[in-house]
Amino acid sequence: MCSPGPRFPHFRVLSSPHTILTAGLFVRLLLLGASGMFGSDAAAVFREAGYEVLGADLPEVDITRPSSLADFLDAHPCDLVLNAAAYTNVDGAEDHREEAFRINAFGAEVVARACRDRNLALAHISTDYVFPGAREAGYVPSDPPGPPVNAYGASKLAGEEAIRAVLPEDRLLICRTQWLYGRHGKNFVDTIRGLAASRASLSVVNDQWGVPTHTAELARQIARLLTLGARGVAHTVGGGGPITWFTFAREIVALAGLPCEVLPCSSEAFPRPAKRPRHAWLRSGVPADAGPWKDSLLSYLRESGS
Ligand SMILES: NC(=O)c1ccc[n+]([C@@H]2O[C@H](COP(=O)([O-])OP(=O)(O)OC[C@H]3O[C@@H](n4cnc5c(N)ncnc54)[C@H](OP(=O)(O)O)[C@@H]3O)[C@@H](O)[C@H]2O)c1
Repeated sequence: MCSPGPRFPHFRVLSSPHTILTAGLFVRLLLLGASGMFGSDAAAVFREAGYEVLGADLPEVDITRPSSLADFLDAHPCDLVLNAAAYTNVDGAEDHREEAFRINAFGAEVVARACRDRNLALAHISTDYVFPGAREAGYVPSDPPGPPVNAYGASKLAGEEAIRAVLPEDRLLICRTQWLYGRHGKNFVDTIRGLAASRASLSVVNDQWGVPTHTAELARQIARLLTLGARGVAHTVGGGGPITWFTFAREIVALAGLPCEVLPCSSEAFPRPAKRPRHAWLRSGVPADAGPWKDSLLSYLRESGS
């Protein structure tokens, strides 16, 4: 039995026997993709929130091999799975579409089936790229996704659809995020900081909009939603915005104290193999719960050496 959550219009807060998660405490969580950029920061955040965290990644667990995941779950029983395992090379997916779909769509389905078979809840990370990015006002979680503008987005949307076909909504929380950065992966903040340290000027695209999201901020939002027993689709992004990559880069350079001039340019000046959505701002619906992106950026720059 579900009742609408008073503060979260786009998803529901449970009041069923499955509210094992609502207390948040002593829940055993399996974090898939634990060695990735998000996963590396997420474990500590979830532990701080009271979860017992088990991490798994390749080669120990391959989500595209059902027996690999089943064997791990048999050996390490848990209450909840957080799937951050993914093929995340956006440009690479254009030439390796099959591989992207194998991991992001079939792999996600394998995870959902394992959860269904064991009566576990699943939180799954998805992306703004499931939207075409053609709406200046951005997207709320209840907006129907698609059509994506690139192969990565199509594979992630296929993953969302696959897990929704396998698991009932009261066992599932899809958390879409965007413009993610963290200490343990290649990211825009480090790239801009590195370039700005050695150049007098930089041109950065000023016609794609979104909100920067720090990995720890994303983990905190997901932990909070799970603790509340939220289900359905949520947009879990940094607070404030939307901004363009140019604005973000200008802020990175200013906060890092680098004497580099940041200049705006159009996407056409930087052709990439994969098309990017222009206006894919994920409006969260819970703005008060998101830390301002600028505060997160400042903390990140300080902790990573600027
Ligand atoms: N990065 C962003 O800007 C961004 C934006 C929006 C949404 N997201 C989503 O956020 C989530 C986390 O992204 P991230 O940036 O942390 O990605 P990431 O650093 O690439 O981490 C993904 C992890 O999944 C692992 N993995 C790949 N294939 C696997 C498989 N078959 N079985 C098990 N593990 C596998 C990867 O291992 P290998 O490295 O060995 O392949 C990697 O450790 C993903 O769902 C992504 O789509 C990311």
